[in-house]
Amino acid sequence: MTRDYKGKIAFITGGASGAGLGQAKLFGGLGAKVTIVDIRQEAIDKAVEELRGLGIDALGIKMDLTNRQEYIAAADKAEAHWGGPPNLLLNTAGVNSFGPAEASTFEDFDWILGVNLGGVINGFVIFVPRIIKAYAADIKAGKTWAHIGVVSSMGAFDGFSTDAPYSVSKAAVNNLAYSYYDALKPYGIGVTVQCPANINSNIGEAVKTRPAHLQNTGYYVSEGTINMLKSIHATGMDPVELARTFCYAMENGLPICIPSYGYKPGDPDEKRVERSASAEQSFNKFLNWMTVDGMNAIKKQEEEQAAHMAEFRKKWEEDHPGEAPPSMFGPPQDSDVPIEVFGQARPDLDFVRDEAKKH
Ligand code: NAI
Repeated sequence: MTRDYKGKIAFITGGASGAGLGQAKLFGGLGAKVTIVDIRQEAIDKAVEELRGLGIDALGIKMDLTNRQEYIAAADKAEAHWGGPPNLLLNTAGVNSFGPAEASTFEDFDWILGVNLGGVINGFVIFVPRIIKAYAADIKAGKTWAHIGVVSSMGAFDGFSTDAPYSVSKAAVNNLAYSYYDALKPYGIGVTVQCPANINSNIGEAVKTRPAHLQNTGYYVSEGTINMLKSIHATGMDPVELARTFCYAMENGLPICIPSYGYKPGDPDEKRVERSASAEQSFNKFLNWMTVDGMNAIKKQEEEQAAHMAEFRKKWEEDHPGEAPPSMFGPPQDSDVPIEVFGQARPDLDFVRDEAKKH
């Protein structure tokens, strides 16, 4: 670590769980005074107890990021408690739910965009003036530092058939972060957006925090689909290690942080972030979408992939008669709940093609 975190103030949204709690442990462990805000009181209480048990000076505040009055009140409360606005603001909270784009309701968009984009916008609008006023002069004098982080996703770089609201929200927060990165450079305040692929977190259960007035979804959601998502996220990156990659990117002034697939605890610092092959793949796809030659190249690639999959399936059936092909996911997390495929439409949506719908 090249920055001094002792006595610095951190404000972490979604800090009661997953990536946010990992950040609280890392930066709190380095000496920062940490506020975690979250929509779930029980999770906050548990997290604050855990953080204090680790010797971290932690404050928990319940709030809904999408409610501006609650957000302002939480910012005021944290500022009064610590004596200043955050040096380190981490906009980490986020939610997801998946289903065919054509099945999406207004409520699917409003909930996911409200938290993932609206919540981050609220964070910037509420805190940026406070951070500039409190720290810009001292930053210029080399006496302190300030940084704003946003947790986005690899989903920011592409859009697929079942992740419209999520990938829209993440693409938008990336651009939001790049804009503020540029705008805050003259004040010496850094901005970094992190784009993880898979985190060992509780996001599989995010639908349980969906507010009553936004319950109407076009997607098929059940304890089984939640269990499937949980099994995927159980194989994700450890939240504290993820926070280390973020820390490395922020300290080195990188606007984008893609945690390295190959990074392992104990590896040299520079292995923590990478020039991501999957981000490059997405950018290449967009370049190809602009020309007829490019589209022909994509068609060829899709045909090759389909042939490769068919070949794999044929060989598997020959070698393992009657056996299901291997899953890329881990075992179910809740053994009492059978896993169900996520990303399907509600069965009653008669305009959705059969293959994209729960039967
Ligand atoms: P998590 O569910 O463990 O943590 C997110 C926290 O945000 C939860 O504690 C939740 O209660 C809180 N939250 C949700 N809505 C809120 C609201 N309206 N107001 C205040 N707090 C609210 O999930 P995770 O995975 O740690 O998520 C952190 C970020 O990482 C999110 O932005 C997510 O989109 C992103 N991400 C997650 C990936 C994954 O595989 N889990 C992959 C890529 C990005």
